[in-house]
Amino acid sequence: FYERLTRAFPGVDFRLGDAFALEEVLAERRGEQFDCVISAVPLLSFPMEQRVGLLEDLLARIPAGRPVIQITYGPLSPVIKMPDRYVVSHYDFVVRNIPPAQLWTYRRAV
Ligand SMILES: C[S@@+](CC[C@H](N)C(=O)[O-])C[C@H]1O[C@@H](n2cnc3c(N)ncnc32)[C@H](O)[C@@H]1O
Repeated sequence: FYERLTRAFPGVDFRLGDAFALEEVLAERRGEQFDCVISAVPLLSFPMEQRVGLLEDLLARIPAGRPVIQITYGPLSPVIKMPDRYVVSHYDFVVRNIPPAQLWTYRRAV
């Protein structure tokens, strides 16, 4: 997707790298806040501790209240609920995706 997207949207800053190594992947943009995150990283393939670690890393890069939106194929939230650290909510079930996908959002409380 990276090369295709880079060609299709030359004005967009695409970075190709490991979502679990964002300090390295986003080194040139260190300290910047982003608006929100849309993620299709296959979280179910990773241990829960790593999923929580990634989510908290992503949440630290966007303002409180803004969402990390995660696409997943399982029926449950792919990241365990921790109400003292972030708010989880089911957003949508996308039947037209192949396979049909669930969308979950995660936010830090405002
Ligand atoms: C379900 S596909 C989603 C494809 C596409 N991003 C989309 O949204 O339609 C999962 C993608 O996550 C990528 N992926 C897997 N592990 C990753 C990681 N640690 N960091 C970044 N991407 C990863 C895979 O290469 C694959 O392209």
